[in-house]
Amino acid sequence: MADADIGLIGLGTMGAMLALNLAEKGHKVAVFNRTQSVTEEFISNAGDLAKTLVACDSYGSLATAIRKPRAVVLMVPAGKPVDAVSEDLAGYFEAGDMIVDAGNANFRDTNRRAADAGDIKFMGIGVSGGAEGARHGPSIMAGGSKAAWERMKPILTDIAARYEGQPCATYMGPEGAGHFVKAVHNGIEYADMQIIAEAYGLMRDGLGLTASEIGDIFTEWNNGELASYLVEISGKVSKAVDPETGAAMLDIIEDTAGQKGTGRWTAIEAQHLAAPVTVIEAAVAARNMSAAKDLRGKGEILFGPGPEALTLKTELIEGALIAGKIICYTQGFEMLRRASAEFDWDLPMPAIAEVWRAGCIIRSDMLNDMALSLSDEPDRLLMYAPHFSELLKTHVPALRWVVGAAIGAGHPMPALSAALGYFDTMRTERGTANMIQGQRDFFGEHGFERTDRDGSDYHGPWTADR
Ligand code: 6PG
Repeated sequence: MADADIGLIGLGTMGAMLALNLAEKGHKVAVFNRTQSVTEEFISNAGDLAKTLVACDSYGSLATAIRKPRAVVLMVPAGKPVDAVSEDLAGYFEAGDMIVDAGNANFRDTNRRAADAGDIKFMGIGVSGGAEGARHGPSIMAGGSKAAWERMKPILTDIAARYEGQPCATYMGPEGAGHFVKAVHNGIEYADMQIIAEAYGLMRDGLGLTASEIGDIFTEWNNGELASYLVEISGKVSKAVDPETGAAMLDIIEDTAGQKGTGRWTAIEAQHLAAPVTVIEAAVAARNMSAAKDLRGKGEILFGPGPEALTLKTELIEGALIAGKIICYTQGFEMLRRASAEFDWDLPMPAIAEVWRAGCIIRSDMLNDMALSLSDEPDRLLMYAPHFSELLKTHVPALRWVVGAAIGAGHPMPALSAALGYFDTMRTERGTANMIQGQRDFFGEHGFERTDRDGSDYHGPWTADR
């Protein structure tokens, strides 16, 4: 009987949690997983919610179970599986039915899928918040046609996180706009995590603090300007004890970070847009370097270990993180602004900050102030907004001090130093690219502009020197 409100394909952790969230909000969900035993186990563990779930053992039975026009959420791995499932579904779906890809797709794939979908609608939605978010309220960044959004809006706002009662589910724009915003979210996530890791490294290798002491410091910072999910969990991760050995869990976690690719996509797209997201790029590179454990071992044998002990007040490290974070978000929002213009999307800048205030991995108190600043002037560089420029005036001296001291003592600071480099560049009207232009003209006659005249194709007097 076709009485399910929606379908969901892919009962991995995220899919299963999203299905339970939908069911809990009273939406009857037809679920399907390629391996049938996974579906059965999911239903048998669903408790009272099982009566709001319909187990399906094929695409055909799934299509039959969903009320028309159908909508089905895909929670399958990004890439080829999304195309494969969409093709299979097309055999059972009809005009007006809709596929909603809720995975971490590359927005270019979503653009293509939306264009190729024909009579069957295709939406790409970015969903953030991990398993806990999917189960109790994620942050949702929706992309696709406005009509598709209007149709899905009641369900998506129902299951989303709430910030002071306001649902964190927002329409970002056409085609892959939702997945693009999610990728930038993840790029910022990488950067935020990396600057926290750099602060941790300074406290561990520079100040000689134990994991548990560091945990207390993160927990304290979480009561101040840095209040955020990532700082909160960094405190918890630092304080956790391995039940098997009794050692600090953090001390026995291997120092090689994984990645599924979204942070890298952000860095790649930033290059296409000529958007300087140096903190995100540094964070992606830092993950790549972390994976090169063997090479790092060889480097240590060759050059000797890097980080030396140093004396630094932890308040300064907190200040450095505050400044680094503002600079990193400034870059992320600027990238979004450029993408909006380039792709003609009209991304809702303040609403993006709002949708990130709850449910997602980068949620933080600061995002509310970012939303307010972006409402005032969506096109202004975030760090020039009065609230954030004041914070930077207060905390950049700490960032400068910490980066300087850390680098002097051999501590790697790729992301925090990138943040400082960006700040110093963006507060210097007369920079150094005149030298680049002089060099380009010298070897390639590329021409330059002069400070004292109009026009753009001047050349230097270097013919005789070549
Ligand atoms: C989220 C996260 C999530 C992401 C993981 C792992 O917003 O819930 O961004 O979507 O998949 O954080 O990402 P990496 O494996 O790339 O670190």
